[in-house]
Parts: sequence; structure tokens; C-alpha cells
Amino acid sequence: MAEVPKTQEHLFGGSPEKQTPNPAYCTLRLLRGEIGKNMNQKIITIDGPSGSGKGTIAALVAAHLGWRVLDSGALYRLTGLQARNQNADFHNADVLGEVAENLQVEFEHGKIHLEKQDVTDSIRSEKAGNDASRVAAVTQVRAALLGWQQHFATSQGLVADGRDMGTVVFPRAALKIFLTASAEERARRRYKQLKEKGMPVILTSLVEEIRERDERDMNREEAPLRAADDALTIDSSTLTIDEVVEQILAQAHKYCDLTP
Ligand code: C5P
Repeated sequence: MAEVPKTQEHLFGGSPEKQTPNPAYCTLRLLRGEIGKNMNQKIITIDGPSGSGKGTIAALVAAHLGWRVLDSGALYRLTGLQARNQNADFHNADVLGEVAENLQVEFEHGKIHLEKQDVTDSIRSEKAGNDASRVAAVTQVRAALLGWQQHFATSQGLVADGRDMGTVVFPRAALKIFLTASAEERARRRYKQLKEKGMPVILTSLVEEIRERDERDMNREEAPLRAADDALTIDSSTLTIDEVVEQILAQAHKYCDLTP
């Protein structure tokens, strides 16, 4: 089984070059029909709640297939962080939408820079996750980020990880996975991850935070977290990472275009 890529280059497509998504360009590609029928055969979406293992699984599946990865949660984390940096009013939807619209982000050599500042690690904190979940409930923010995300679909193939990849962003994807696990198991995994990174963390508050975040993600009006009708649900509570990856690859062989 392949290892999870060590760098974060896979986060936004595995390209070491500078990538600054351009919404106008994305819209143009959509209008031209470049994200069309055939492209959908090369898209796998993996949605699910926090801590279900989506990021790791998406990276491994992509590594196996030689496809790119989109970690859509990072875009919401970046928006939340930038809103904090700018002391934006978290109750003002228009302001938050503008923050998302004007993000100056560069993905280069596995690092994420927000206005020239390295935020690769800081966007992974629990606080950034909670801010992300708050801005993610805002229609204007989701609208601003939609085109950026669709821009990542190319003929190379894409594994897109998030909450609404199969329902909203790539509704015609050839294979849709809804990956879940119990809240306790997800908190335990997250705890281990944060400890390894040397970040301060308390397990009980983590379970609570995960539940709160699920609640907000599932009950928001805009693109709530739910399995697409045609998604395959996998409960990873008692499965190993390799077992989940194998299940997804087996489905990919059935439903996707795996030609290079
Ligand atoms: O996946 P990650 O934990 O990085 O996502 C952070 C937050 O961003 C989620 O809790 C969710 O509220 C939001 N999100 C979303 N739609 C996505 C990806 C993430 O609403 N496609």
C-alpha cells in the first residue's frame, strides 16, 4: 500500500508550481464546457465529517491512481483565518464573502502562504477548524469558493475531499464516497494527530468540539453535510486505512476512467 505523501503538495493538486486560483478563469472553463462529461469519469468525491480520515484516504487513493487531490476544507480554513486576521465581523455575511473572494493564497512546494505568510500549520488548529465551520455556513463564502474548487478538475483525474464535493461541487462525479466513523473514534484519531504535532489538546473537549462541528455542518441551510443519494457510505470506525483505500479503489475500477 502506498504511503501518504509526506509533503502537502497533494493538497492542491500536487504541482510544485505556484498556484493562485483565479475565479474568472474557472468560470471561463465552465462556460467553455471544459469541465464536461468525460472529466466526470475522472473525479472521485470523498465527503464526510471531521476526523473520518478523508484527507489521508483521499491522498492515498490519489497516489495509487496518479491523480490530483483537492482538500476543500483548507479553503474554508484559509477564509476563517483571513477573517480573523482582518478582524472581520463573523456575523456579516457580505464581509465574509468578500474575504473569501479576495483570498491571496499561494500553494507552493507543499506550503500554503496566505498573503506571503506561511500558514501551512496554523490552519490545522482546532480553532481554525471551528472558524472554518462558521464561515462555511455563509452562502456568499461558498459561492466565492465554488469556482476555485471546480478548477481543480483536470484530465489527470481528481480526488476531492470535503463535505459537499458529491452533492454540490462535483454532482456528476463518477464515484462518490461518504466516509464516516463514530464521534468518539474520530476524536481519538484527532487527539493522536494533534499530540504528534505537539499541539495542546484535551480528549473530552475534542469529542464535544467534534459533535458541535458535526451539528453545525449537518444542520446549516447551505450545502449541509450529507451523503449524496448516489454515494457509497463507508463506516471506517472498525476498518484500517488500507481496507478503506482498497474498497474505494475496487469501486474506482468499476466506475471511473482510469486510463492515464
Ligand atoms: O475538512 P476540514 O476539517 O479541513 O474542514 C473544515 C471545515 O470547513 C468543516 O468543518 C466544514 O465546516 C467546512 N467545509 C465545508 N465544505 C467543504 C469542506 C469543508 O463546509 N467542502
